[in-house]
Amino acid sequence: MLTGKRVVLAVTGGVAAYKSAYLARRLLEAGAEVEVAMSDAARNFIGAQTFAAITGKTPVIDLFGQDLVSPHTELARWADVVVVAPATASTLGKVAHGISDDLISALLLATTKPVLFAPAMHTEMWEHPATRENIEKLRSFGYHFVGPEEGGLAGGDVGIGRVAEPESIVEELKRLMGAPEEPLEILVTAGGTREPLDPVRYLGNRSTGKMGHAIADEAARRGHSVVLVTTSGLQTHPAVEVVRVETAMEMKEAVDGVSPDVAVMTAAVADFRPADPSEEKLPREDGLDSVELVPNPDILASVVAREDRPYVVGFAAETGSVDRAIEKALKKGVDLMVYNDVTKPGSGFGTDTNEVTLIDASGEVEAWPQMPKTEVAARLLDRIVADVASRR
Ligand code: CTP
Repeated sequence: MLTGKRVVLAVTGGVAAYKSAYLARRLLEAGAEVEVAMSDAARNFIGAQTFAAITGKTPVIDLFGQDLVSPHTELARWADVVVVAPATASTLGKVAHGISDDLISALLLATTKPVLFAPAMHTEMWEHPATRENIEKLRSFGYHFVGPEEGGLAGGDVGIGRVAEPESIVEELKRLMGAPEEPLEILVTAGGTREPLDPVRYLGNRSTGKMGHAIADEAARRGHSVVLVTTSGLQTHPAVEVVRVETAMEMKEAVDGVSPDVAVMTAAVADFRPADPSEEKLPREDGLDSVELVPNPDILASVVAREDRPYVVGFAAETGSVDRAIEKALKKGVDLMVYNDVTKPGSGFGTDTNEVTLIDASGEVEAWPQMPKTEVAARLLDRIVADVASRR
């Protein structure tokens, strides 16, 4: 809850600044005390007087020349939480690089309290490699994010980059200010399995493990204890316990050894493996007319069938509509299925983004816009943690 919580609302310069007036009102309605800090650029989009009328307090608009001796540190200490809405690419960049040359960036560097960014910018700016890198860095520093959403942007453009709605920001703040997440044991499977034909060659698939690793890293950052069973060599958060495997059988054995609260099965497990892999490299001159395959165990099914069954999240990478994934979710009995269409640009193997649809145990769907895999990971964990908490 936000009752009695002291919220500094930092407004930076984007057209979405006008929405922060609604946000200020929603925060007050939720019982928070609100102080507004505005950048110079923000005042091109909305007047300080608007916030003064809503909050009953004059916004802080400068590092110098107002009543406060040291506005950035005073606000930084007064706050229980700081929300930056809208957060421009420039503000994110400054904080990621430790630059503190104006009121908002100085405030953000000075505070030790939780900070929630609600980014807003044009799609090209959001997707720029510099912004992507800054977001990664800020996440690793422990900053929180809400949005952006897909929709109408400044100048009539449409795409990802629209600031999260005031209601979503308030909800996210409530979550942040609520009881800390109860630490869970989380198992993640990731990557594509490799099923050997001989010591050199294998049957495999195009999964890189990025999505699963993003989930494992985010869970570890939040203090959950994470076992990641993966075929991928990607770097992981130091707190993640990594079990590297190659084949479906090895993955099954590793999974069998863990009794988690939550199992997030992102791995692309080969459904079949060569029945009798050769111990020697197969010479070309011997020819190979056919390969006999035998089915691999369904690892997810074995987890769902456990007596001490965890909360199970399946992934369905499909080349068609969501209908097949809904069918799969119901048939497999998962608590949540995450569907994506791998033929869509920005939603396939090896990309840094994903566009997913969640399907719950009753077949209800929730489509998310395209966003970085790190963002999918964070939102997915929010959902998992909330579901698990509501069942306890
Ligand atoms: N899965 C698993 N073990 C397998 C196959 C799949 O754990 N042998 C898990 C995947 O990690 C994923 C989910 O089951 O979370 C769905 O995978 P998918 O390959 O889409 O399911 P299949 O039942 O193999 O369906 P398909 O016929 O489309 O391959």
